[in-house]
Amino acid sequence: MHTEKEAIETSPDIVIVAENLADVAAREALLDRAMGPKRRKKSSEKLRRGRRPSEGLALIARNAEGSAIGTVRLWDVRLGEGGPAALLLGPLAVDPSTKGAGIGSALMRQAIAEAARLGHRAILLVGDAPYYARFGFTTEKTGQLSMPGPYERDRFLALELVPGTLDGARGVLKAAGRKLGASVRKSPAAFAKSDVSSDSPSGSFTRPAGRLAR
Ligand SMILES: CC(C)(COP(=O)(O)OP(=O)(O)OC[C@H]1O[C@@H](n2cnc3c(N)ncnc32)[C@H](O)[C@@H]1OP(=O)(O)O)[C@@H](O)C(=O)NCCC(=O)NCCS
Repeated sequence: MHTEKEAIETSPDIVIVAENLADVAAREALLDRAMGPKRRKKSSEKLRRGRRPSEGLALIARNAEGSAIGTVRLWDVRLGEGGPAALLLGPLAVDPSTKGAGIGSALMRQAIAEAARLGHRAILLVGDAPYYARFGFTTEKTGQLSMPGPYERDRFLALELVPGTLDGARGVLKAAGRKLGASVRKSPAAFAKSDVSSDSPSGSFTRPAGRLAR
């Protein structure tokens, strides 16, 4: 007999797809459930507010019923004034009822693969080093970089997609993503509707059959 965790790990029905407009409300509710209201006070939020995610890099995990059970988005940033371009990852979250089933890892691996495929050179994030180390994230190259607000230095991590990209990188991260339209910013409802790439690909990144990639 399968445990619940094994059932999810072996289910062929969980897919990772590009987020679309219909996912916004479910994604926000999922983030509230997984992270609580303080999520909006994070320094990373300063680099996301009023911006669209990097093109093609807002991903949702869906279960067999089509419900959103995981989310990850990546954002365009610059490393210091006039510095190189990079991505900031976050938030990453899965529905609390599906924790430990490999969905977070599958989202991370898909996000990293897509970012590399799209030509991005480095990904940064603020998060738990023991979790993100398994995907190659370390503090090794973030020592001369900083977030625009309070954060814990040992949680400020980076992964180079192109080796050497972060050599010599220094300064405060700056938002560099496509801005939400001015009219959109005035209305919270419209903001939520627009908080997703309007040109998200409709194609899915269905994971290979079998266990979710860990
Ligand atoms: C962090 C999160 C996305 C992981 O997703 P998940 O689908 O539960 O994780 P996976 O099933 O892919 O991986 C589970 C493994 O990660 C480990 N893990 C999970 N969260 C961890 C954390 N914060 N620190 C260290 N290890 C962690 C588990 O112990 C497990 O280890 P194992 O493979 O050795 O058994 C999920 O727990 C979550 O949504 N948390 C709340 C939101 C959040 O805090 N997000 C930001 C994280 S910094």
